[in-house]
Amino acid sequence: MSSNRFPGAKVYWHQGSLHDWNERQVHVMSHVLHYGSSVFEGIRAYETERGPAIFRLKEHVERLFHSARFLKMKVPYSYEEIFETCRLILRENRVKSAYIRPNLFFGYGNLGITPSACPVELTVACWEWGAYLGEDAIRNGIHALLIPQKRIHWSQVDASVKVGGLYVQSNVFATQTRNLGYNEAIFLNLEERISEGPGENLILVKDGVLHTNDRFESILEGVTRTSILELARDRGHEVRVAPIEIQDLFDADEAFFTGTAAEVTPICRVTDSRDAEKSQSDWPIYQIGAGKPGPITREMGDLYQRVVRGLEPQYDHWLTYAYDSAEEAREALYAEAFAK
Ligand SMILES: Cc1ncc(COP(=O)(O)O)c(C=O)c1O
Repeated sequence: MSSNRFPGAKVYWHQGSLHDWNERQVHVMSHVLHYGSSVFEGIRAYETERGPAIFRLKEHVERLFHSARFLKMKVPYSYEEIFETCRLILRENRVKSAYIRPNLFFGYGNLGITPSACPVELTVACWEWGAYLGEDAIRNGIHALLIPQKRIHWSQVDASVKVGGLYVQSNVFATQTRNLGYNEAIFLNLEERISEGPGENLILVKDGVLHTNDRFESILEGVTRTSILELARDRGHEVRVAPIEIQDLFDADEAFFTGTAAEVTPICRVTDSRDAEKSQSDWPIYQIGAGKPGPITREMGDLYQRVVRGLEPQYDHWLTYAYDSAEEAREALYAEAFAK
């Protein structure tokens, strides 16, 4: 599961300079620590023949600025500077693949709810991070828990922003779900339909058609979701974007989560915990399809893994390489192996 301790890396970037990973330098009275006033991105870079390639960096940096606008943050860096810092942090850490975390936050200045005197600070870190829900989850699928909690409605807070404070709901119910022995939670929305996971979107397959919902069902329309839908269409699959009823999930032939962290994670069983009167042992368990990762889930998961590794040239425009050339990458990352 995802309880592995933080592996860390060599350095992280903060306000224009690199710092040893173990150096701590944010004031305890920083606004963000009290009110969750941050916006962030989760990005992955994968090992390719040309060194690490960042998947859809442009879309992630654009979403970071979109989230910052929501928090009325004046970002003290340009789009290009953040884009280049994501490349830089991979090179500085000499990693072949990594998860990258840019985080913009209100720092130390005042502690009223409105951060009027707080500077906006940026950190960019990366570290080697395997499968979010575990390798076994990707290979064999997971057991998800449908929970009664409703996602914050899109009409209350724009669901397309990644604001630190909004992740409290994900944190609390993902933790509770794991404590009950399930791999991941599935939230409902206020309309009592399927919304999303704490950090993942949900896609169903029924009679060969891929089904997913959109932002008006109170989901964050993830970069991975959008990519999978495009890949599916390119492979000749029909895709339908429409609300997902609870019964649609139970009746699906296949289901999977998508997300930068979770990648494509098959869902093989769902337990329905909505009935507060029932004890856990009486919660109904639904097997999804054959109870193992289905053929379209496999196809999309395998294709995604090839695309992010630069093995499908048609999608090369989705990749941003950390090094300017393959030679530079080879020298930095594989020099020792070559010297042997
Ligand atoms: C709430 C939520 N939904 C969905 C996703 C999936 O988004 P993406 O594919 O852009 O990582 C994430 C992850 O960022 C998330 O936090």
